[in-house]
Amino acid sequence: GYYAGPLRPQVHYSPPQGFMNDPNGMFIDVDGLYHLYYQFNPTGLVAGNVHWGHATSEDLYTWTNQKIALFPDRPGEQIFSGSAVLDPNNTSGFFPNQTNGVVAIYTLSTGSGQEQVQEIAYSYDNGYTFTKYAGNPVISAGAKEFRDPKAFWHEETESWVVLVAFSQEFVISIYTSPNLIDWTFASNFSNAGLIGLQYECPNLLQMPMEGSHEPMWLLYISINPGAPYGGSIGEYFPGHFNGTHFTAVDAVARIADFGKDNYAAQFFYGIPANENQISIAWASNWQYTNNVPTDSENFRSVMSLPRYNYLTNATRIGYQLVSVPYNIESIFEAQLVSNDSLGNGTVFVDYSSIESGALYFEANVTGLSDMASLQGSVNFTFSSSVSGESVRGGTDLLSGTTWVDRGETRGFDNPYFTDKFSNSAVYDGSGLWRISGVIDRSIIEVFVNGGEESATNTFYPNSPLDTMALSARGINATADVAVAVWSLRSTWA
Ligand code: FRU
Repeated sequence: GYYAGPLRPQVHYSPPQGFMNDPNGMFIDVDGLYHLYYQFNPTGLVAGNVHWGHATSEDLYTWTNQKIALFPDRPGEQIFSGSAVLDPNNTSGFFPNQTNGVVAIYTLSTGSGQEQVQEIAYSYDNGYTFTKYAGNPVISAGAKEFRDPKAFWHEETESWVVLVAFSQEFVISIYTSPNLIDWTFASNFSNAGLIGLQYECPNLLQMPMEGSHEPMWLLYISINPGAPYGGSIGEYFPGHFNGTHFTAVDAVARIADFGKDNYAAQFFYGIPANENQISIAWASNWQYTNNVPTDSENFRSVMSLPRYNYLTNATRIGYQLVSVPYNIESIFEAQLVSNDSLGNGTVFVDYSSIESGALYFEANVTGLSDMASLQGSVNFTFSSSVSGESVRGGTDLLSGTTWVDRGETRGFDNPYFTDKFSNSAVYDGSGLWRISGVIDRSIIEVFVNGGEESATNTFYPNSPLDTMALSARGINATADVAVAVWSLRSTWA
């Protein structure tokens, strides 16, 4: 089948064939089904000729590929990134006879180096097919780098809001509308945080705040190129939004993921503000995405796992977006390791017989009594018993450093495909230090302290990784280490 290749992830979304980039239009329909659209080149294995591909899921792991939802009309045109909303009250006038109308708002790239404008299209059938609005475009500014509209309904002002990036001016413009058609400029958010060379793919939504009943607003922007590790990355700003203006709480630049393959994240439309919000990112980087060796399997790019997100403000570094795999237990298959008292030991797992090749692992250092007990490290190695290639990583309690190294895989050689990543986390006084992750054939996502830090990295071995070692060293005698490893069932089988 389509999803059988050795580099083809088994619990992550990837397109049936062709090239994929940003997630688009993510919304939950009236029956609770998740819709994921994506930047899709159906006729090639590099970026270009962009359509909106489409897939649906009940659980965010088991996907059904649907027909392409949005096509360009003329040669040279492309349907760039955007979002989708439900219009149950027929504010748009498109839906006189139904309460499940869907409106997509996207960027039309009119031609290479030409104007980018914002258009809308409406769907009578829950988002499977769309009709483009005859009066398009709905927002134009005579700008060549003006894109990625993310719309939502703002309850307090009973108004639609959309964010659009003037990418190369480092400006996110906010517009409001009563009907999704007539938009009025409201304000600009600009030159904040890390600017890279472009702002792309803004999101603005409410996030639950740990320990508070009041959700907080979060602005999330992607930067490309110009990320600290090179290429593409996401950053976020906690703050306040009054329906027209967003104000960040402080001037801090906060990076969302310390790996190199987590870009253009989008958050689902339709999750209540007091619930954890669900995001999916494109797990690649514009620096090398057109060259990764999955062309041999007739596709390029995968999405990140669906992530649960909320905010904390619990440590001395202040606000942090916490992001963990959504409901990963739902795809657990068999428990391969369970040891609540590993101490300073090592567990080895031969998973060559696990058909998916996908694992979930966690190691929790427990019983940390005080700062002096923050000692030692937990490390993991996934290797190939055939080629000796490996992906490694670990976390060091004293320095708070977590690292991932994909450099010992040899299926992709590219100067931008840098291999070592690290980040620091602050001990939160909980008595626990935790590392967990999901490895899935050609992608690994690592989480520190329940998602306070995360790293998404793709990797391309010549030979499948099939052996795991998980070990603890130098852990304080008053503490212990609990480890668990599960195989994950292929959601594509
Ligand atoms: C981000 C991006 C968007 C654009 C799309 C084109 O990765 O460059 O700004 O809409 O990809 O495919």
